[in-house]
Amino acid sequence: MDLYEYQARDLFEKYEVPVLAGIIADTPEEAKAAAEKLGGVVVVKAQVKTGGRGKAGGVKVAKTPEDAYEAAKAILGLDIKGHIVKRVMVAAGAQIEKEFYFSVLLDRSNRSYLSLASVEGGMEIEELAVERPDALAKVEVDPLTGIDAAKALEIAKAGGFDDELAPKVADVFVKLYNVYTGEDATLVEVNPLILDASGNIIALDGKVSLDDNASEVRHPEHEELEDKDAADPLEAKAKASGLNYVKLDGQVGIIGNGAGLVMSTLDVVAYAGENHGGVKPANFLDIGGGASATVMAAGLDVILGDEQVKSVFVNVFGGITSCVAVAEGIVKALEILGDTATKPLVVRLDGNQVEEGRAILAAANNPLVTLAAGMDEGADKAAELANA
Ligand SMILES: Nc1ncnc2c1ncn2[C@@H]1O[C@H](COP(=O)(O)OP(=O)(O)OP(=O)(O)O)[C@@H](O)[C@H]1O
Ligand SMILES: [Mg+2]
Repeated sequence: MDLYEYQARDLFEKYEVPVLAGIIADTPEEAKAAAEKLGGVVVVKAQVKTGGRGKAGGVKVAKTPEDAYEAAKAILGLDIKGHIVKRVMVAAGAQIEKEFYFSVLLDRSNRSYLSLASVEGGMEIEELAVERPDALAKVEVDPLTGIDAAKALEIAKAGGFDDELAPKVADVFVKLYNVYTGEDATLVEVNPLILDASGNIIALDGKVSLDDNASEVRHPEHEELEDKDAADPLEAKAKASGLNYVKLDGQVGIIGNGAGLVMSTLDVVAYAGENHGGVKPANFLDIGGGASATVMAAGLDVILGDEQVKSVFVNVFGGITSCVAVAEGIVKALEILGDTATKPLVVRLDGNQVEEGRAILAAANNPLVTLAAGMDEGADKAAELANA
């Protein structure tokens, strides 16, 4: 789960990372009141889970509460890379002397942690990595020893901080690492980390991604950070049923078992769609092993609830789960859904007990269901039905 900047700011504060005061506001009036409370120059910042807010007009300096009102009015409702701004943070204004960059993240390919740091912050990190690769230090962090004072100093030196700055930023790196491990994050990024006119190091922006695998047992409190309003309603429904579902922007609903098979089904359907008016897969849904009727019904229910969906392709390879269980699942699911199931289903079964599974579907003789012999054929049929 990615956090909003204001949530990251709150976590930083908890770990004694130096941050500035910030108050969230959902209306221009609230932003004005927040600016009055903070006093002095403030910065009104769009709260969206995407980068490049500044460039998109989502970060504005306001000298007076009236200015803050106008800034919030301009920023609320703004579309930043497809994210509509519903909330701003009114932050105390900093007097920036220098801007730096720091992050620590999970480096899956090296089964380790990686820290990136640069004394040359202020521009987008992707740009810096391309234009001035030498200025961006990449330091591997051993998860067993982490970022202690010595490691932090090593990172600071590698990032180009001089002898005066290095110990100051290193102190903050250690605290940011405490956020990273303490909260089971997979990313903690600060861009910019600044030196202000009084010589303080301050985290002026924060991006934190939390590891969802840790939330249930280790961090039940993380549930409060979830943005339930922003979640896609279909994804929320699927999550409530324990389904592995991702909404996409197409017309052919997809159900499969195993992430690999579902991914390749998406490809095959997208490819088949080229011959049928350009229809595309409408979702990713992996029902996993042991596809019971209830799981199948829950999956179909979510997919059929997607107004964009015109047909559904069920592509299952029976392994531990036999095709009999899947076929019975489909039949029962259609019974459970009754009149709400109105869209055609193409079913391709293979593997364990395939003949018996097909026989069950054939016997049920549901007019919505078409059996396909193979994956390509099924994808083509489903795409054709979606385009009809
Ligand atoms: N509280 C503040 N006081 C003064 N200047 C600020 C403050 N917050 C941000 N700024 C200035 O605005 C710039 C952009 O802010 P910020 O880094 O938060 O957004 P961004 O980089 O555009 O967005 P993102 O990090 O999501 O890509 C900063 O580099 C900094 O110069
Ligand atoms: Mg930033």
